[in-house]
Amino acid sequence: MKAVILVGGQGTRLRPLTCNIPKPMIPLVNQPFIEHMLENLRDQGVTEAILAVQYLAERFRESLGDGSRLGLKVHIIEEPEPRGTAGAVKNVAHMLDGPTYVFNGDVMTDLDLRAMYRFHQEKHSKLTIALTPVEDPTAFGLVETNDEGRVQRFLEKPRPEDVTTNMINAGTYIMEPELLRYAPANQFYMFERGLFPTVLEQGEPVFGYPSDAYWTDIGKPQTYIDVHHDILMNKVRYSFRGREIADRVWAEGDVNVDSSAQLHGPIVLGAGVSIGPEAQITGPAVLGAGCQIGARAHLQHVVLWEGAVVGEDAQLDSCVVGRGSRVSAKARLSDGAIIGDNCEIGPENQLAHGIRIWPGTVLGEKSVTF
Ligand code: GDD
Ligand code: MG
Repeated sequence: MKAVILVGGQGTRLRPLTCNIPKPMIPLVNQPFIEHMLENLRDQGVTEAILAVQYLAERFRESLGDGSRLGLKVHIIEEPEPRGTAGAVKNVAHMLDGPTYVFNGDVMTDLDLRAMYRFHQEKHSKLTIALTPVEDPTAFGLVETNDEGRVQRFLEKPRPEDVTTNMINAGTYIMEPELLRYAPANQFYMFERGLFPTVLEQGEPVFGYPSDAYWTDIGKPQTYIDVHHDILMNKVRYSFRGREIADRVWAEGDVNVDSSAQLHGPIVLGAGVSIGPEAQITGPAVLGAGCQIGARAHLQHVVLWEGAVVGEDAQLDSCVVGRGSRVSAKARLSDGAIIGDNCEIGPENQLAHGIRIWPGTVLGEKSVTF
């Protein structure tokens, strides 16, 4: 079966992590998220994936090519201008030839796609939407269904007083391409506020497929950290690359860990990581390729991108450090701090409370306590 993956969004909510790369390319456990997604689709029987992109198309092409490395066919189709979620699929309608999966490109899930497809067939559905329960549906698309699972109403980003169910659109659909006739050509058009309500009004069979599979929209910094936590704590089906060099410590290549350093898994170390004397790392933690950790530094619940350098006695807890950034001696990062790429965080800065530091920022010694 074919799949269309919507990867055109700007990823604004994830900035500064998405300042230099599209949201679906940000690393998840040291692998671009989209690669993980494509491997998962391949394993579930998808043979061809069409990526509907809007910007930085070259980055996708360089990284994914025609998909042969990942074992499925990949097409990267750039929109002439933002077409919206449904408009993006309409734009590739000529490439579709039967029931098609459509995915939001920022969702981490281990949903069983084959089971969803069986449901779609049994119900003679023309549009089946995966549903997942969430605590607060106001940031999502609420979907009301009846006892048979038939969709009654959509309410995108409902106000708190309008919430009638905790089941939301999980961003995975199975769609019969004939429904695209309801979408205007060459125009901005959304599924959520356009095509979905329209096909309901037209009386087309639209079903919700409820699932309690793991599900997270990785579109916000805290969820980006949380999803690493969940993968490393085995809350989602995920196969680690690399070899286990100690209890729940995986190395993706040669690493250099000082014998006096303490590592408490689950931890994933990219190739070429080096960890200095008496450093302590407590998982869940992911260190990208070539990261260097100084003596006595303490790290826990961190995600460090490729080439990040952490100085002696620095303390990092629940934070993300971008590619090639340097965190100097005795600096403290905690509580959801996000450091963009190629920053220099001078000694003894204290960054917490979800502070976001833009790529290339240089902070002198002791200049910020936040
Ligand atoms: N090609 C293309 N063109 N892709 C787009 C466009 C566009 O104009 N606009 C958005 N996308 C992509 C984004 O890159 C993302 O992968 C997906 O469509 C959804 O967009 P988001 O901006 O992430 O939407 P959301 O998270 O606020 O809400 C959507 O997802 C929720 C589940 O995570 C909606 O579908 C909600 O109903 C749903 O609950
Ligand atoms: Mg999203």
